[in-house]
Amino acid sequence: MSPVPQSLAQALWKIYHRPERPQPWAAGGNLPWDAPDFSERMLREHLDQSHGAASRPDAERMSQLEWLWPALGLFAGARLFDVTCGPGLYAVELARRGCHVLGVDFAPASIGYARDLAKAAGVAGRCDFRQADVRAVDYDGHNFDAAILLYGQLAVFEKGEAQSLLTNIARALKPGGRLGVELLNQERVDKTDGTWWFTDETGLWGDAPFLHLGERFWLAEQALSVERYQILHLETGRLTEIQLCDQTYAVAEMTAMMRRAGFSAVTAWPGWAGVPLYDAAEWVVYIAER
Ligand SMILES: C[S@@+](CC[C@H](N)C(=O)[O-])C[C@H]1O[C@@H](n2cnc3c(N)ncnc32)[C@H](O)[C@@H]1O
Repeated sequence: MSPVPQSLAQALWKIYHRPERPQPWAAGGNLPWDAPDFSERMLREHLDQSHGAASRPDAERMSQLEWLWPALGLFAGARLFDVTCGPGLYAVELARRGCHVLGVDFAPASIGYARDLAKAAGVAGRCDFRQADVRAVDYDGHNFDAAILLYGQLAVFEKGEAQSLLTNIARALKPGGRLGVELLNQERVDKTDGTWWFTDETGLWGDAPFLHLGERFWLAEQALSVERYQILHLETGRLTEIQLCDQTYAVAEMTAMMRRAGFSAVTAWPGWAGVPLYDAAEWVVYIAER
């Protein structure tokens, strides 16, 4: 066994002295998706068919797309914007069905994979994948028929940013264009605090032994969950702290935000309208028409 690095003891004291409750959004409030090494490791999770932690398994995605196609009024030749497209699993399938797709995501490994996937599927000419923060891209000058923002990613932004993003997406759609957004169902979300830990030697946090200490806080007044992870890399004593915020919305509040963003009609579909997903009941899908 290797000697215990001095920094490991320092890291433990740092954990001991952590603030009792984290300040929401203080550390960005999201996973480090855009860090190259994390992005490579996360790509493995996106593509892993044994779970749906990062992207849904293929069969579930196909079921979602069968439902989204008519719900978003898609057609061969439609122009679609996939906001936080990840590895392009939705975008490339929609391009295979004839759509012209712009996919934006700030995870480098995912964008690289999406480009390769489009080439392999023979639809690179209908796909444009860009590595960028969706809060900073230029939303003017587009005329999209539809947009998607899936798997709860709108919730990782604080409310003001979420409102701006919705407004920008509305601007990028043509009149009558539709946006599909998937958010956790506030009525069903876990409203308790909790702690957990595990050890591993390979996974999202690296490929050397680490200890993951997790805490979950439910901030009732803000209807917000904050998860704080302390990851202790045992061989080096390096400590990484990650904070993940997940803003929940009542259907009435999200509907009002979408209307403020410029959408004229909003329909909320609790439980993915019956689409067979293992966790469908946890979600609400919004279809908003400009
Ligand atoms: C849970 S994954 C879902 C990806 C994809 N929609 C899917 O279901 O396969 C969330 C994605 O959001 C991206 N993301 C999060 N915040 C982002 C931001 N500010 N700008 C661009 N991409 C972002 C991450 O890089 C990640 O690929």
